[in-house]
Amino acid sequence: TRLALIVPAAGSGERLGKKIPKPYLTISGKTILEHTLRKFSPLPELEEVVVSTSPEYRERTERILDELFPDKSTRVVQGGAERQDSIRNALNTLSERVGLVAVHDAVRPFIETSFIRLCIEEADSRGAAIIAVPAKDTIKVSDPSGCIQSTPDRKNLWQAQTPQIFKVSVLRKAYEAALEENVLGTDDASLVERIGEPVYLIEGNRENFKITYPLDLRLAEWLLDEAAR
Ligand code: C5P
Repeated sequence: TRLALIVPAAGSGERLGKKIPKPYLTISGKTILEHTLRKFSPLPELEEVVVSTSPEYRERTERILDELFPDKSTRVVQGGAERQDSIRNALNTLSERVGLVAVHDAVRPFIETSFIRLCIEEADSRGAAIIAVPAKDTIKVSDPSGCIQSTPDRKNLWQAQTPQIFKVSVLRKAYEAALEENVLGTDDASLVERIGEPVYLIEGNRENFKITYPLDLRLAEWLLDEAAR
């Protein structure tokens, strides 16, 4: 099955406290976006790559895509106010030729290609699959005053990562429903779950963390510099 890759890279990076958006910070000679995209370049089924970003970064992103994917169909689309809007803009441009779509955060450069492959296989046979890790901490549910309401059993709790891979028809249907019902999800699987379609978990690893806070950036710098040595 032919695969499209959508990479949202239009976040502002507020929680990191930097002026430059996270995907465009340089670590060990390359932007985080490049480190991330390279993990997908060995996949023979990959046909299309779409990155959502802000207008200031359009040209730079086009150059990165041309360099990394010279023989694929690649494009840059305008990011939106929310991650979900950025992905919707990309989803709207996919050709009819692709059967599967992978969504992967620009700021998860440590995804291993072997996990992407597992996720593709599972999505191809079952319709939708995501990479996740078992929750490490005990998770609490609070009320608005900060009082704990409940403690869900940790053995059923997972931290969702990306890639999240879907049959294109399934993800399109989920995005249409979300638009109609004005729903904002924090990941793509949640939109698919809402329309009653099954989504399967694949256990990945904790190296595939999302660069979000300053500590994450320091860890990423350390890991990437170490790998370059
Ligand atoms: O903000 P968060 O860390 O959840 O962002 C995850 C990914 O979504 C990042 O790669 C970020 O650049 C992207 N994003 C986006 N458009 C937004 C917000 C986030 O493309 N409006």
